[in-house]
Amino acid sequence: MKLRGNTCVVGLQWGDEAKGKITDLLSEQSDVVVRFLGGSNAGHTVVVGDRTFKLHLIPSGIVHEDVLCVIAGGVVLDPEVFEQELQNLCDGGVRFEGRLRISQTAHVVFPYHKLEDQLRETDSGKGKIGTTARGIGPCYCDKAGRTQAIRVGNLFHADAIEQQVRRIVDYKNRLLTAMYGSAGVPVEQMVAKARRYAEILRPFVCDTTALLQEAIADGRRLLFEGAQGTLLDIDHGTFPYVTSSNASACGVSAGAGVPAKVIDTIVGVAKAYTTRVGTGPFPSEQDNDIGNRIRERGHEYGTTTGRPRRCGWFDAFATRYSIKLGGVDKVALMLLDVLSGFQTLKICTGYRYKGQLLKSFPTDAEVMKDVEPVYEDHPGWAEEIDGVREFADLPANARSYVKRLETLLETPIAIVSVGPERTQTLFREELI
Ligand code: IMP
Repeated sequence: MKLRGNTCVVGLQWGDEAKGKITDLLSEQSDVVVRFLGGSNAGHTVVVGDRTFKLHLIPSGIVHEDVLCVIAGGVVLDPEVFEQELQNLCDGGVRFEGRLRISQTAHVVFPYHKLEDQLRETDSGKGKIGTTARGIGPCYCDKAGRTQAIRVGNLFHADAIEQQVRRIVDYKNRLLTAMYGSAGVPVEQMVAKARRYAEILRPFVCDTTALLQEAIADGRRLLFEGAQGTLLDIDHGTFPYVTSSNASACGVSAGAGVPAKVIDTIVGVAKAYTTRVGTGPFPSEQDNDIGNRIRERGHEYGTTTGRPRRCGWFDAFATRYSIKLGGVDKVALMLLDVLSGFQTLKICTGYRYKGQLLKSFPTDAEVMKDVEPVYEDHPGWAEEIDGVREFADLPANARSYVKRLETLLETPIAIVSVGPERTQTLFREELI
């Protein structure tokens, strides 16, 4: 597949769409790969031969020797996870010297963010979101609230950061004690951590906005790597059961710090079925043998938390919403091989609410929890397809399943994936 201009990869469902594999494939033709949102709640798996890399913060492009990787200002960065990831890359033989940059405007996740995330979730009881407990929500809250926030750039003002950390930790501890009866976090330890974080990050920090502007001016090819998925977008997802940043294509420009018009192609990634982790509405969920079978065949357990994912049929209504919202040009359909062996596949084509067929996708959780999915049946195929290398060689029913989804999504499905390896990818060149 030939990339034309700057490309963005986003998830079209509730995350875990195997975006890491697509970003990895497209990175081969890119000069710069930019991560623009979220934090270590993401888990991107990249398989290179017999090596598997699980990346949470560092862009998947890092496994390609000549690619520059940028963690932009829209990201909330946990320096301890980052350090561990650097170590894993070193252990796996990946050299990243001079190829990794972090924005000074990214926000720093501290241990008190993770503690607050856990305490808030426990306290919410049935109303909990089912977060990854990585401190993402509390860190973005501080960013929006401003006075308690610490950006990467702040870590390098040695005197000011110490005062800042003392003031913030004092505030946090009073809050955590009053709200949850927690002792909070030791202030001296947080001051020491801030100093250490500066040392971990120092070799990588720069003004990534200027760097990307220069790259654009030089005609270098940029790839924007999304995290989570459109239905988890804080503004456009199934609120409040979402993450705390803009996980749809709408978030690229602000998160990366580039003009929206520099993006030439948006590739939306979707599984051939649907999964969700955490709580929140999921109309096509199959909490039964069908869902269990998908989970086992698809190894549907969280990369970040190990939690079993909820599984269900493909939801064309929700996915089409994500496509239209983000202006997605092409779809990559992942994990088609997982569906082998079902006699009949169901596709959710719409929702009925109070007896009426909905015209547009409802992001209101109160409506979502009461919708009834409308299904159409599609004949399945018995054969395993993980060895297939050409779209034309798929069983006829697998091909017609893809084509039916394409019609329902009103968007070309240009890539079909039948396994985790790079070689297990079918490019429909006529659509690229
Ligand atoms: P948070 O981002 O940890 O605050 O979690 C908020 C919601 O987003 C929860 O339902 C999480 O399970 C979900 N979530 C966050 N990151 C991911 C991801 O990378 N894949 C799938 N779900 C995610």
